[in-house]
Amino acid sequence: MSQIKFYKHDDIPMEMHKVKIVQQLHLLPVDQRLEKIKKATFNTFKLHNGDIFMDMLTDSGVNAMSDEMLAGMMKPDDAYAGSESFYRMRAKLREIFGMKYCLPAHQGRACENILSERFVKPGNVVIMNYHFTTAKAHITRRGGRVEELVKDEGLEAVSDLPFKGDIDLEKLEACIEKEGVDNIAFMRLEAGTNLIGGQPVSLQNFKDACAIARKHGIVSVLDASLLQDNLFFNKTREEACKDMSVREITHEIADQFDIIYFSARKFGFARGGAIMIRDRKMFHSMEDLVPMFEGFLTYGGMSVREMEAMTVGFDESMEMDVISQGPQFIKYCVDQLDAYGVPMIKPGGGLGAHVDASRFVDHIPQEEYPAGALVAAFYICGGIRGMERGTLSEERNPDGSEHFASMELVRLALPRRVFTLSQVEYVIDRTKWLYDHRDMIGGLRFTHEPATLRFFTGKLEPTSDWPEKLAAAYKADFGEDQ
Ligand code: F0G
Repeated sequence: MSQIKFYKHDDIPMEMHKVKIVQQLHLLPVDQRLEKIKKATFNTFKLHNGDIFMDMLTDSGVNAMSDEMLAGMMKPDDAYAGSESFYRMRAKLREIFGMKYCLPAHQGRACENILSERFVKPGNVVIMNYHFTTAKAHITRRGGRVEELVKDEGLEAVSDLPFKGDIDLEKLEACIEKEGVDNIAFMRLEAGTNLIGGQPVSLQNFKDACAIARKHGIVSVLDASLLQDNLFFNKTREEACKDMSVREITHEIADQFDIIYFSARKFGFARGGAIMIRDRKMFHSMEDLVPMFEGFLTYGGMSVREMEAMTVGFDESMEMDVISQGPQFIKYCVDQLDAYGVPMIKPGGGLGAHVDASRFVDHIPQEEYPAGALVAAFYICGGIRGMERGTLSEERNPDGSEHFASMELVRLALPRRVFTLSQVEYVIDRTKWLYDHRDMIGGLRFTHEPATLRFFTGKLEPTSDWPEKLAAAYKADFGEDQ
């Protein structure tokens, strides 16, 4: 089942779980939020969690665990080498993906480091539907570069295409022809394409793209970090998947690839990561890198408790009642805001609701980081922490010029099973207020700009006193204590 039907009410998303353990929330008054964001140098990564009301920064490592996952954590097998917890996790991954070899790693980017170390040489190209920040950073660190070949519609804010994460097959063939097979390190397809709004890839596209890679002898890699959302869309939007179980769809996707890696901070609802490999020789060619960077081969930097939790989490990721929650809440949020006129990425995808900052604050030039400024405004007006997914999250070009992102997004992530519908309603309400006051929002500029992954640690300041003015308008409407 994917939707509870209502009798006298329009259908709304229903939580298919009940709350057993809670964390108290506090809403700091707006004046204090203004002080906190100044102290955080207008970088929401630097805010303390206790100062945030709705933490919608990410779904990474903050999804709610189930009672079964917690129960699993009570029976870990602590061992430096040969932990039974690892063997249980590997057996579950083998069952789900049908691949034999498993390298554990402490999180998704650690898998990306290992893959880049193994495959990327200076001058190489990695073909992708679209990049993810850490995946790209590891490739460029090794002297490689990324070619993004997502279909044109993937970069359009609004489109009818149900699978906006699909790679363009013509662009793929042309790119292979132009670069030459020997210069292509691998092809990486990302399920639930993060940076373009959590947009899914169709089973058919996985099949077609991997068939092309296979024909040319190019290694195919699936980033399955957001696979659970992708699976929901395969099942609900793709005719060929309608009568397949989630497990069957997963198997069919996995069958296309040579390698699958994932962040278990997302896939599996716990904290960790792993690389699954089909071929024995390929596995042995990467194996040494795990003890070097991560830890021994049977824990890879993860705690045994987390491995037990994620083993249960993988099974839960195969349940429609579990994986439908995120996309349904996101759709609700996107539909409500869209109806009000707020520019949103459509159709809603997985991971979170994505606001199109380039239209929301179209008066802020791209060099003043419109999405970054809007994220700061969200915190001031409601204690909501989103994440900038735009130019601020990009790295500069080798000549030092700005690399303008193809999309300027504010991501309001919906970690799985964490927020209730009334909390989502609050976010919708504050977004509407912010939209009505959008002209008051101004730009940002760097005061300290790190060379790599600058969005994590960079410091910024507003280009005028717009934050004070915005806070004053908010106070006038909602009062001092809100
Ligand atoms: N791949 C994808 C598609 C991701 O979304 C992430 C992380 C990673 C790889 C890296 O995994 O964080 O465990 O090292 N995404 C997080 C986010 C950070 O907030 O979207 P990690």
